[in-house]
Amino acid sequence: MTSPSALPGPQAAALDLGGRTALVTGAAGGIGRACALRLAAAGARVRAVDRDAAGLAELAGHAGDLAGTVEPHVLDLTDLDAAEFVAAGTDVLVNNAGLQLVRPLEDFPPDVFHTVLTVMLEAPFRLIRGALPHMYGQGWGRIVNVSSVHGLRASPYKAAYVAAKHGLEGLSKTAALEGAAHGVTSNCVNPGYVRTPLVEKQLTDQSRAHGLPEDRVLTDVLLRDSAVKRLIEPEEVAEAVAYLCGPQASFMTGASLVLDGGWTAH
Ligand SMILES: NC(=O)c1ccc[n+]([C@@H]2O[C@H](COP(=O)([O-])OP(=O)(O)OC[C@H]3O[C@@H](n4cnc5c(N)ncnc54)[C@H](O)[C@@H]3O)[C@@H](O)[C@H]2O)c1
Repeated sequence: MTSPSALPGPQAAALDLGGRTALVTGAAGGIGRACALRLAAAGARVRAVDRDAAGLAELAGHAGDLAGTVEPHVLDLTDLDAAEFVAAGTDVLVNNAGLQLVRPLEDFPPDVFHTVLTVMLEAPFRLIRGALPHMYGQGWGRIVNVSSVHGLRASPYKAAYVAAKHGLEGLSKTAALEGAAHGVTSNCVNPGYVRTPLVEKQLTDQSRAHGLPEDRVLTDVLLRDSAVKRLIEPEEVAEAVAYLCGPQASFMTGASLVLDGGWTAH
């Protein structure tokens, strides 16, 4: 376990994940892609997992100059056995893959609810389960779960997403309690709306559900409760993920690191 004397001094060195293996799910997309590049920049060997083969290939092409490496693993996380298998031997696990459907409860398709819960809650459980034996064996591991403000607050028309993120918060806290004695931390990061394809795709759905023109969805719906009136960038979320992987954060576990422009300060 890291002792306080191992902490960096005031001129703290940059995050060094040389020799570490990190796994990032949903790495072909906005936040996951930024996390994969940030951890590879810190020297990690990154297993980049996504079902989007073209996106992963594009990501790997961007990683050439970094200190670490990015290795694409094309995988649909609804294959839960494969998800658990691919997590074996990882030192850092970033559970990030996600999807969204904006629809009133009475019209919410049960099969989509099931898929959202599978990818965003059950797969993280299986990935953690696959990663823990190696982490426990060496007495060190970092689990970062990309949750959301919707892990802490609900919004209408997002039943599956809100349920999955609230479940992920509970999973993360449980992993923190069980992992502490083994040098494993588990935390969530909780962004507000991030500038990614997931949000861009939502604008049409939200405009239909709220009966608003698309150009008003950003200001009247997405940023309504945010004190800072802009979307957060994926790289800003990746920096919080990197912080949670560093020695400065070894006492931080079971926490939810909120990056919401003041949304939950209301
Ligand atoms: N964009 C936001 O505003 C926002 C805010 C808070 C939290 N988040 C969370 O951040 C995470 C990433 O979101 P994003 O905005 O970068 O989304 P994104 O759509 O840009 O990326 C999500 C990635 O997950 C992958 N994915 C989805 N289903 C998969 C499956 N079955 N198997 C393998 N890969 C799969 C997609 O292919 C995609 O590359 C999600 O968990 C999301 O809930 C996003």
